[in-house]
Amino acid sequence: MTDYKRTLITSALPYANGPVHIGHLAGVYVPADIYARYLRLKGEEVAFIGGSDEHGVPITLKAKKEGVTPQDVVDKYHGMIKDSFQRFGISFDVYSRTSAKVHHETASEFFKKLYDDGKFIEKTSEQYYDEEANQFLADRYITGTCPKCGNEKAYGDQCESCGTSLNATDLINPKSVLSGNIPVMKETKHWYLPLDQYEPWLKEWILEGHKEWKTNVYGQCKSWIDSGLQPRAVTRDLDWGVPVPLDEAKGKVLYVWFDAPIGYISATKELTPEWEKWWKDPETKMVHFIGKDNIVFHCIIFPAMLKAEGTYILPDNVPANEFLNLEGDKISTSRNWAVWLHEYLDEFPGKEDVLKYTLTANAPETKDNDFTWKDYQARNNNELVAVLGNFVNRALVLTQKYYEGVIPEAGELNTTDRTTLLEIRNIKAEVEKSLDNYRFREALKLAMDLARLGNKYLADEEPWKVVKTDPERVKTVMNTCLQITANLTIMLQPFLPFSMDKLRGFINLEELNWANLGRTDLLPAGHKVNTPELLFEKIEDATIEAQVQKLLDTKKANEAANAVAKPAKENCTYDDFQKMDIRTGTIIEAEKVAKTKKLMKLKIDTGIDQRTVVSGIAEYYEPEQVIGRQVSILVNLEPRELRGIMSQGMILMAEDADGSLKFVSPVQTVKNGSEIK
Ligand code: MF3
Ligand code: ZN
Repeated sequence: MTDYKRTLITSALPYANGPVHIGHLAGVYVPADIYARYLRLKGEEVAFIGGSDEHGVPITLKAKKEGVTPQDVVDKYHGMIKDSFQRFGISFDVYSRTSAKVHHETASEFFKKLYDDGKFIEKTSEQYYDEEANQFLADRYITGTCPKCGNEKAYGDQCESCGTSLNATDLINPKSVLSGNIPVMKETKHWYLPLDQYEPWLKEWILEGHKEWKTNVYGQCKSWIDSGLQPRAVTRDLDWGVPVPLDEAKGKVLYVWFDAPIGYISATKELTPEWEKWWKDPETKMVHFIGKDNIVFHCIIFPAMLKAEGTYILPDNVPANEFLNLEGDKISTSRNWAVWLHEYLDEFPGKEDVLKYTLTANAPETKDNDFTWKDYQARNNNELVAVLGNFVNRALVLTQKYYEGVIPEAGELNTTDRTTLLEIRNIKAEVEKSLDNYRFREALKLAMDLARLGNKYLADEEPWKVVKTDPERVKTVMNTCLQITANLTIMLQPFLPFSMDKLRGFINLEELNWANLGRTDLLPAGHKVNTPELLFEKIEDATIEAQVQKLLDTKKANEAANAVAKPAKENCTYDDFQKMDIRTGTIIEAEKVAKTKKLMKLKIDTGIDQRTVVSGIAEYYEPEQVIGRQVSILVNLEPRELRGIMSQGMILMAEDADGSLKFVSPVQTVKNGSEIK
């Protein structure tokens, strides 16, 4: 490792079109936060950069769908994301956003410099254009029939039915999402970064120079480079983004993947006027924390941009993670298959560290991993409570009991004491090695070994027994336990910051410095410690079952939403239909039929008469909800007796995918007795 003076830590800017979930946390923010906290503990100069990615087509589509502006969308989610990161304790030095003025200026200048230096090539190509909406259509703005599977709702970039990635021109019967019209082909000019020209340099820099990168990262880079790099358009025809700063580029913006990584630079500017030392001094080490879908952008495209600009440093490492699944299924915002951070924080107050712990212990560092609520519970109950919490609690409670919280002087150490204390230093060296190499789950496991060691020491020495026979010996044992506890507060601080702050409060340890790890005099004899509260509490089955149930409900709702309509029944004649006399009527009285779950007795004003109908809607409506409602009623259905009540006719209901019943009513109120035909 080359010597460096400071570390710039960036974490992928999340798209501000939805809240943050555990997949984002496990892949990017938790490891980045551990790394930042670790370096700060070592006294190093760190800038930990975050922010929201607020441009791109999906945000404009979401805005359109909700009938609001793209700025409204990003304002909402930026606020939400920023707030939940803060509550969760992700220790950003700055959390910015790409709709900020400083970012628009920075990205615009960056483009201009590359343009002026002749780093782009210009190309004209034909793209789909909507003549009614007067605009070019991004791939996501075009739907049509998939040439592979025949799905009629495929997008211009992908068919979600069969998963094939497409070009907009592949679609059969393309249609504009904006107007529904058939788009036409029209010429448009764009600026491209000629990545092919950077290929020899990238080969040298990554494939030769960064063999130490994680195998998943290095492998992806190699496969991209080996298959040949093509020029990449860095501009788009869109009205949401950073405008291209050229007179001839009216109505064009920078491609979101061009401006977003520049967001790291803008955020650093927001953090400090000395931003250049973070970006231009070769003694700054830059590390990008990202998920695997971002590798090509951070290892190939952004470095090529920085290289083209010429005055910036390049990343030292890009420790990208694989994906975290949830209960065996891919996390998905659109399917609502996720554990959302803001919901977790509301539902599990004070348990921020438990989630951090689980996500680190199970981090998808080398392969995709699965989050399950059962595992979450087990990690909490068997590790945080039973190992860590149990050890420090016993150490502190016994100190209260025997010495009223005043740390006793240690007597002569025996071999067990000495090897135990020595082990702290060994663990420190190993934890450092893991952290320096971005192996966070391994580091956490090693750090927890210190708590395991403490537990074992306590169990072997049995001070509660020895106290009766050899009280002097117990002083040494308890002193040792307290030194282990003090070391734990430092070693686990990057992983469990809230809990370790709390624990340092119990033991009145103010100084917090990684270099102190391994010291056996962190708490001198005579130092007073407080009565502890429980650091972690057991999580009950009912809590976990409620979360699992929530996911099952989501699954059910998704299945209902995706259910295909039943095929049509056999044909009937017009005469068959004519036999049915369907009218509009109004419900004027309603009551549940006693001793039944489903039945409701209704009195209907049919325009012809007032009559009683028994209807199977009681599971879905309360009587007071239906009184006064206009409905459709089949008035010439043979009367029949239901539970002793004569029912004269039938109310028409639509059965929704989940089996629930909805009234079939005229959209505008009509005169009761009107014929439905
Ligand atoms: N918004 C992107 C995503 O969620 C990540 C952008 S990272 C940046 O995949 F470098 F572009 F900022
Ligand atoms: Zn398809």
